Amino acid sequence: MNLGNLRFNLSFSLLTLIFVAPFSVAQDAHLSIDASKTGAKIDRNIFGQFAENLGHGLYEGIWVGPDSTIPNTRGIRNDVVTALRALKVPNVRWPGGCFADQYHWRKGIGPAKLRPATLNSAWGGVVDTNSFGTDEFMDFMQQIGSQPYVSVNVGSGTPQEASEWLEYMTAAQPTALAKERAANGHPDAYTVGFMGIGNESWSCGGDMTADYYVSQLKIYSRFVDNVNPAQQGANHMLKVAVGPGFPETDWTEAVMKAWQHHDWSWNFDGLSVHWYTTPNGWPPSTPSTGFGVEDYTKTLKSTLFMEEFLRKQETVMDKYDPQKKVALVVDEWGAWHAPLPGTNKDFLVQQNSLRDAILASLNLNIFARHADRVRMANIAQMVNVLQAMILTDKEKMVVTPTYYVFKMYVPFQDATFVPVDFDPGSLHRDGVTLPRMDALAAKDASGKLWIEITNLDPDKPLGIDAEITGISARSAKGETLTAIGVDSVNTFTAPNTVAPRPISATVKDGKLTLTVEPKSVTVISLEP
Ligand code: AHR
Repeated sequence: MNLGNLRFNLSFSLLTLIFVAPFSVAQDAHLSIDASKTGAKIDRNIFGQFAENLGHGLYEGIWVGPDSTIPNTRGIRNDVVTALRALKVPNVRWPGGCFADQYHWRKGIGPAKLRPATLNSAWGGVVDTNSFGTDEFMDFMQQIGSQPYVSVNVGSGTPQEASEWLEYMTAAQPTALAKERAANGHPDAYTVGFMGIGNESWSCGGDMTADYYVSQLKIYSRFVDNVNPAQQGANHMLKVAVGPGFPETDWTEAVMKAWQHHDWSWNFDGLSVHWYTTPNGWPPSTPSTGFGVEDYTKTLKSTLFMEEFLRKQETVMDKYDPQKKVALVVDEWGAWHAPLPGTNKDFLVQQNSLRDAILASLNLNIFARHADRVRMANIAQMVNVLQAMILTDKEKMVVTPTYYVFKMYVPFQDATFVPVDFDPGSLHRDGVTLPRMDALAAKDASGKLWIEITNLDPDKPLGIDAEITGISARSAKGETLTAIGVDSVNTFTAPNTVAPRPISATVKDGKLTLTVEPKSVTVISLEP
């Protein structure tokens, strides 16, 4: 052996130890969970989705038409339906977004050949064939097993148009509109779980003042209703009023103050808020591929503002509604990055990386910690738009890292929040300070305890020891989601780059121990 080489190898190894080891040695975190201390129900509706007539979100992403060579059921892609069914999507918001305030539902019913082509002036001025309309949306909801959340047109529609739409969907009585629905192949009244009254009425929904919106809200709430006899009781349709998409609280003040004084004639059940993660402000400019740790930490720092954003709105809601009757509905959230180069900028196409998966888990954990008020949320959006679950290109489909987070969180749907005591520590990178970790716990209907751990650290694993009381557990099993880089993505040619895999964890004498990898999302269940 060449001694020079040996010396080089030894000093190289020493250097490796000095410079690499400190970054890969596990840091320790101690958690304490008393499963007998429970909080609010984590409403399954916080795992809702949003599908707007925008770019390839609906057309191509969900709807290919019955004559397509892409396998479909009545025009809806089978591959997308199968993937979504696994997420147990509780509700889907449609048709917008900004598009909702220019949507006229009558153009999207009846024989496809007779439907008029219209312009989607909200999103790129492209032609909308209206071949995906109300009955197709309801079919989609039935195929994936989800609840419709329709947004009615307040900006360019009328209360009468909205009222007739609800009657078309929900009348079981033999009215002309119910008969028209039956003639279109749907004799049974649809169940409509949620109705949004306008969208961003302070901006694309008509640039209204809060007071003007309140007057519209009262009228729409009074005259637009679900008339399905099967939905007049406990499962009545929930009405959602427009709230802010900015941290200031004046709009919330005006709407909640009006609500406090509402009489029998009008009401609403939820206040919508929109908050996107755009770390560089507006227009969104963070790349969705090929970025480094600096962009990662900056994006996570920015997404954690959701906590403060919600707290501000909740403080006002608590003042007018201390019993928390009105839900806070975060019906647009997620990462809004720069459009992928070479795509139509109005189609809001972006890739979805491990960074976005971690961002999703941090937001879902925030919603869960606010479960007494945040009872519904809709990530934007479902397919091919913004922080999507699924990307498609003609016959190809791939699920994203964010999809896997939603899948791993299915056990948290309707589970009961259990507080976790932990010190999140801190992580300093590129002038940004972040918590090193986050954690969530909940008990499902069978009494099983589920624990989620997010390790934000891009380099260091985290050694977890958790003291578990209030439940007897003999074993633990779980899955973890990580990948080689913070910017790792799934593509049509490499679809499993970011996919969950099993992780080992042990439980002994009420103590759970495991090590989670850097930049990872982990969900563990404790088995009795
Ligand atoms: O999700 C994209 C757009 O963002 C929605 O149409 C609008 O409501 C929001 O500004």
